[in-house]
Amino acid sequence: MMRLSGEPAYFDLEVTVNGRPYRRTVTTHRRLLDFLREELLLTGTKESCGEGECGSCTVLMNGLAVNCCLVLAVEAQGAEIVTIEGLAQGGTLNAVQQAFMDCHAVQCGYCIPGMILAAGQLLESQPRPSRQEIESALVGNICRCTGYHKIVDAVEQAAGGGA
Ligand code: FES
Ligand code: FES
Repeated sequence: MMRLSGEPAYFDLEVTVNGRPYRRTVTTHRRLLDFLREELLLTGTKESCGEGECGSCTVLMNGLAVNCCLVLAVEAQGAEIVTIEGLAQGGTLNAVQQAFMDCHAVQCGYCIPGMILAAGQLLESQPRPSRQEIESALVGNICRCTGYHKIVDAVEQAAGGGA
């Protein structure tokens, strides 16, 4: 519908985030990234480039890794979203999180939530990836600090391949 007033349009969003259902009224132009960080205060999801190039805003949407800076909140209607805050259970890190710790794969940490979610999705679909497959799966996630080797080590360890 064409809007001539310049006023924002609103949408009643129903979405599940980290297993918890939410219902919120959002403007139709609100990004999922801003909805998660500002409405739900899930600030583990990071913004860097804001244009789909760096992967720091990666979350899982219905099991698939997406750059949520490019997703409108309204597109998440009815979806299951998982953010970095949803991985640990009862205070226990999941296997990928623990491997990143064990392998000292974290420096400033800014890219790490997106890396871990992207790596987790890889291991869901491919439990024993090669190093090359890990590198390919993480090609959309940019890290300014680590040089990537320890990140790949960590994903190998999480896959049970040691590091
Ligand atoms: S902030 Fe979304 S891809 Fe960079
Ligand atoms: S640990 Fe700093 S950007 Fe990756």
